[in-house]
Amino acid sequence: MSHRRSHGLKITRLTLVGSVVVLVVVAAARAAGAATPPPLRVPHAAVASDHPLASAAGVAALKAGGNAVDAACATALVLGVVHPESSGIGGGGFAVVYTAKDGKVHALDFRERAPAALTAASFVKEGKVIPGASARGGLAVGVPGEVRGLGELVRRWGKLPFRRCVDPAVKLAAKGFPVSSRLAEAAAKLDPAKLEAKSPAQDPRVQDPRAQDPRAYPTAEDPRFVEMFAAKRLREGDLLRRPELASTLGRLRILGPDAFYKGEIAAEIVKAVKAAGGVLAVEDLAAYTAIERAPIEGRFRDLRVVSMPPPSSGGVALLETLGVWAARHPTDAELGRSPRGSSAAFHMLVEALKHGFADRARYLGDTDFVKVDVARFVDPAYHVELARRLKPDAVLARDAYGTLGAPPAPRKDAGTTHLSVIDAEGNAVALTSTVNLGFGAHLVAGKTGILLNDQMDDFAIEPGVPNWDGLIGNEQNAVAPGKRPLSSMTPTIVLDGAGKVRMVVGAAGGPRIISATAQVMLNVIDYKLDAQAAVSAPRVHHQWFPDLLAIEPDVARDVAESLERRGHKTKVIPRVGTVNLLLKTESGIEAAAEPRSPSQAAGY
Ligand code: DON
Repeated sequence: MSHRRSHGLKITRLTLVGSVVVLVVVAAARAAGAATPPPLRVPHAAVASDHPLASAAGVAALKAGGNAVDAACATALVLGVVHPESSGIGGGGFAVVYTAKDGKVHALDFRERAPAALTAASFVKEGKVIPGASARGGLAVGVPGEVRGLGELVRRWGKLPFRRCVDPAVKLAAKGFPVSSRLAEAAAKLDPAKLEAKSPAQDPRVQDPRAQDPRAYPTAEDPRFVEMFAAKRLREGDLLRRPELASTLGRLRILGPDAFYKGEIAAEIVKAVKAAGGVLAVEDLAAYTAIERAPIEGRFRDLRVVSMPPPSSGGVALLETLGVWAARHPTDAELGRSPRGSSAAFHMLVEALKHGFADRARYLGDTDFVKVDVARFVDPAYHVELARRLKPDAVLARDAYGTLGAPPAPRKDAGTTHLSVIDAEGNAVALTSTVNLGFGAHLVAGKTGILLNDQMDDFAIEPGVPNWDGLIGNEQNAVAPGKRPLSSMTPTIVLDGAGKVRMVVGAAGGPRIISATAQVMLNVIDYKLDAQAAVSAPRVHHQWFPDLLAIEPDVARDVAESLERRGHKTKVIPRVGTVNLLLKTESGIEAAAEPRSPSQAAGY
């Protein structure tokens, strides 16, 4: 079965991967309370991702004898080809993996790390932080972890050879694919005239007030980047080919992940970063490793929520938010006083999020470098204490959120993608991957066609000074050689009391990842919505600092006004994250397509 989205891609048949897949189409039914179409329901296995070709590649890997891990790898690599604004082999990410044979959950960290020669001082010139330098150009680039991470995933827990997972991405990059609505939207923001700007002050992406500094660094936009994505305006449905990337992926297919970290590809990456003012060295690539970490776990109702530990803040902030919510709504009677979509419910969710984000800003960082008392933040007793502070009818003073002390002496969705997979054996993968901001550092690594990340902007370059996403932090998340910047990515697997997978979830959208993931989980677990309705329902976002409650256009007006009366300063934004969700049900799997992206689930 295959349909075309009303505003979506011109793809009718996925013969590219040689597999008949069941597809679901979801129109953008976003009006509050509007009936949503049913989710995709399949008996055995499913992949939910931001692009139909990516989901189809995952299903093809499953049908070729692969498991959820192989499918996740194939899906992620295709996403990196068709959505260069969001992810790719120049970026990095995190995966949470459930292996059915032993009921274990594993967390793999393939986050970018700071090059050995990068320090806080690298971003300072004449005593002042160089405006925009962590978001664009060579200094913005962290050592990419994507290829090592995907390689390790299939090596440790997959069934297929790495080369099989790379196949669909190589083919699509070589033959071309239709530009999606999401890529067209991101590319439309690349105004070629402005891209010739000589300084971030003229760069439309840099909203940081420091960019007005006339001493802003003199890096012109990378001509290869402009030629590839901006010189000719990319429109939805146009055929886009990425031949240089196809040849790089082809090398990785034959030589394996090592070929990214040593030899010609590594040399090209280093050359491009250095030419753009960065300090990346071949040794940084050669030394890069993906790290298996103990996943972070907490209970919500009678379920086990397993998510990503630091260097992502996602798991901690998610568990803290859900814990505070549960402490405020311990029974059905309490929950009945916060009906879904009401101002009472949004208020309490937002107040819970503010606790989570306050602790994120003050305490979280890469635990290989700084001490973080993770156990405290996921302790239900702490959540009860935080919940007691909250008021049903008013916001608190800013400093009353989270654990007080160590104050951090104190900017849209594009550069990230989340995918969820469940296979017929019961294995599951939640994987979120990113190049950070839209199109990363706007830097292409020479003739490799690799678009490089700007993940260094996720560090707190200056204590208390907001990054591109408006997030603040302190020395816990300061730059240091080899350190991994704090993330908000929240790949999450929910297990039932018997240890079986019930839900695979996560999102894109910077800090909005945490809010979006929490809301979709509440919609399923507390409000009993099906997968599609849970994802389609309007969402809100608050990250403690700045004191701004972002609401989607479909949040009812009276609800917004009621939130204002409680003291929230509201602002309408187009979307709060993009979520790809799978639910395990009695009869199989439910998959949602995110109406806020060209997402489409596939399965059988
Ligand atoms: O790791 C993070 O949290 C960010 N680099 C994700 C960035 C993102 O989702 C895109 N845009 N805001």
